[in-house]
Amino acid sequence: MIKVNNNFSKLQKNYLFAEISQKVADFTKINPDKKIIKLGIGDVTKPLVPAVIEAMHKAVEEMADEKTFKGYGPDYGYDFLINKIIECDYKSRGIDLKKDEIFVSDGAKSDTANITDIFSIDNKIAITDPVYPVYLDSNIMSGRTGEYNEFTKKYENVTYMKVIEENSFVPELPKEGVDIIYLCFPNNPTGTTLTKDDLKKWVDYAKQNNAVILYDSAYEAYITEENVPHSIYEVEGAREVAIEFRSFSKTAGFTGMRCGYTVVPKDLKIAIGSGEKIGINEFWARRQSTKFNGVSYVTQKAAEAVYSLEGQKQIKENINYYMENARIIKQGLEKAGYTVYGGINAPYIWLKVPKGLSSWEFFDKLLEEKNIVGTPGSGFGPSGEGYFRLTAFGSRENTIEAVKRLTQEM
Ligand code: MLT
Repeated sequence: MIKVNNNFSKLQKNYLFAEISQKVADFTKINPDKKIIKLGIGDVTKPLVPAVIEAMHKAVEEMADEKTFKGYGPDYGYDFLINKIIECDYKSRGIDLKKDEIFVSDGAKSDTANITDIFSIDNKIAITDPVYPVYLDSNIMSGRTGEYNEFTKKYENVTYMKVIEENSFVPELPKEGVDIIYLCFPNNPTGTTLTKDDLKKWVDYAKQNNAVILYDSAYEAYITEENVPHSIYEVEGAREVAIEFRSFSKTAGFTGMRCGYTVVPKDLKIAIGSGEKIGINEFWARRQSTKFNGVSYVTQKAAEAVYSLEGQKQIKENINYYMENARIIKQGLEKAGYTVYGGINAPYIWLKVPKGLSSWEFFDKLLEEKNIVGTPGSGFGPSGEGYFRLTAFGSRENTIEAVKRLTQEM
């Protein structure tokens, strides 16, 4: 008799951003005349830069000509893109990577979820709290967690590492042994960062405990401060314990294009039974070649153009635009008396909700009274309760208008 994967019934009813969309759709239905400003999901609003558009046009022309047409591409990405990634994202920071350590994909969301395929179900995971919901949900689906506890608002068999005001948003090393550690810095949702010294402690911990770090650096392009690491591989020894995820979504406005990549170093080896070690690069390669058919040629040509001189200049302008939005939100809210974090090395502003309100109550109040959509902190985990996330990815006009509305008496 057919049986379902019952782990799905352990999940919260909706994916966080789907739940927000539903609430906004319900509100709009009853209030069609309200001008809603959406600063909820971290979706970009500026169009693709001209260098990318030009590269795509050329690629489309190639696809129209039988001499240059491309069918299936390489499973792990075209060399023209991988070489640029190695040169521009890593070599320029003193990190040496080989071509077969990079896997081009349709984005960091899928990769951070799919990577669970290559690890045993027995592994214990550690996530920061609050956290990007995909890491937890994908482990719930594959059965690596226990049941949800309504009282603690946590899943059993998961180590939650608080990232809160009281510890300056620096997670503490777990006291119990954990096997898979998810770190995302610059952090989604808090917008905070770790120093290289902080990261070194994690690399050392992973080495001592035979653990693996899954490092999501999707927001590295938004780093403005000098001492903030862009890649975990800036830390010595990280190649032996860390997988890194990158995305063109936020860096180059590819949320609707879908392209990212994952680095699985060959030095990352895991002990199996008899003390023998196995390289998990091969496992990921095998997984991808079976379950994924690569990113379209046109999209990879677009991604390649991000690394051209013009492309770099143009995406930098967009990043600066969003970071100016971040500054406007941060300063506006601070002036109005809010306690605000993030917004300096990340496009997210993490604010404390006014006393007496929960994160979801604040969400409802903002939607109903100010017609602004944000993301309730508790949607990212129990320690997010009492916080709220706004994104800097809106238009300048909407950002200014949102700050104006937010700073007026409620
Ligand atoms: C977010 O809002 O946290 C992100 O946009 C979600 C994502 O990148 O998938």
